[in-house]
Amino acid sequence: MADINLKGRDLLKLLDYTTEEIEYLIDLAIKLKDEKKKGTPHDIHRGKTVALIFEKDSTRTRCSFEVASYDLGMNCTYLGPTGSQMGKKESIADTARVLAGIYDGIEYRGFGQEIVEDLAKYSKVPVWNGLTNEFHPTQILADMMTIKEEFGELKGKKLCYLGDARYNMGNSLMVGCAKLGMHFVAVTNEKYFPNRELIEECRKIAEGTGATIEFTNDPFEGTKGADVLYTDVWVSMGEPDEVWKERIEDLTPYRVRKELMENAGEHAIFMHCLPCFHDLNTTIGKDMHDRFGITEMEVTDEVFESSQSRVFEEAENRMHTIKALMYATL
Ligand code: CP
Ligand code: NVA
Repeated sequence: MADINLKGRDLLKLLDYTTEEIEYLIDLAIKLKDEKKKGTPHDIHRGKTVALIFEKDSTRTRCSFEVASYDLGMNCTYLGPTGSQMGKKESIADTARVLAGIYDGIEYRGFGQEIVEDLAKYSKVPVWNGLTNEFHPTQILADMMTIKEEFGELKGKKLCYLGDARYNMGNSLMVGCAKLGMHFVAVTNEKYFPNRELIEECRKIAEGTGATIEFTNDPFEGTKGADVLYTDVWVSMGEPDEVWKERIEDLTPYRVRKELMENAGEHAIFMHCLPCFHDLNTTIGKDMHDRFGITEMEVTDEVFESSQSRVFEEAENRMHTIKALMYATL
């Protein structure tokens, strides 16, 4: 594995990391996963502690940070959307300085990217972005690890993102593909293309890595020959309930379905960061059925449950990649 030193580094967005640094974290995660399966301990951070700030809900990210902390020999404190002083009686700058005096690292999940950037500015210990409206970098590490496990390499692979490409997942996958020399295609209504400045930045990065960044509103043209079809929820955490109707109207043509998987090819895999609306077994899923008559949203249950789906491998890899991140930066 490459000789890369990330000690003391934040992870706020993948734009701040080089291709080699991202590849190093993915390879380290693959190694740590193998060690965990064999029962080889890697508790190199014994005695350290980390703070996990969640201003939005989470299953995977929270559990991954917690279990990864334990496996590395650490303890952690979960600070949820209520119960701490942060934001209400205490500024981000003050919270950062308080927590950095007590903990060795801080994870933050919340709203604007500027909040996690501010936290890092005032914190003397590493800060990790556990999802903001704009970026979800630890998710991309897990996604790329899963693609590497599947195909053996990342460079040259075609990842097709369908749905809301202007939020954290679309943005971050575009950055990840640009950095890793992959072919990124956003397949969606143009209202949902990523922000123009970020597209330009990614296209500049792509010039050096051999990546390509493309956009189309034709689901068959976009998914042709793709290695990965990726989608995310149509309405993200923190967005108002009123947007559902418009999203369902705009994004239904981009629902991942069997004919699109077939169009991509037999080798193609389906990925989703989860949680996912693929049936009526959730309160929101049921509510959307009652209001709009739909039984599935961004992906059909058939594709979600198919042998081409890698969503649960991807979810497991959240833990291994988050562990690699804390292993390397603490
Ligand atoms: N994918 C992801 O971030 O899941 P959680 O919201 O459950 O953390
Ligand atoms: N775009 C989704 C991702 C969840 C992991 C959200 O922000 O809610």
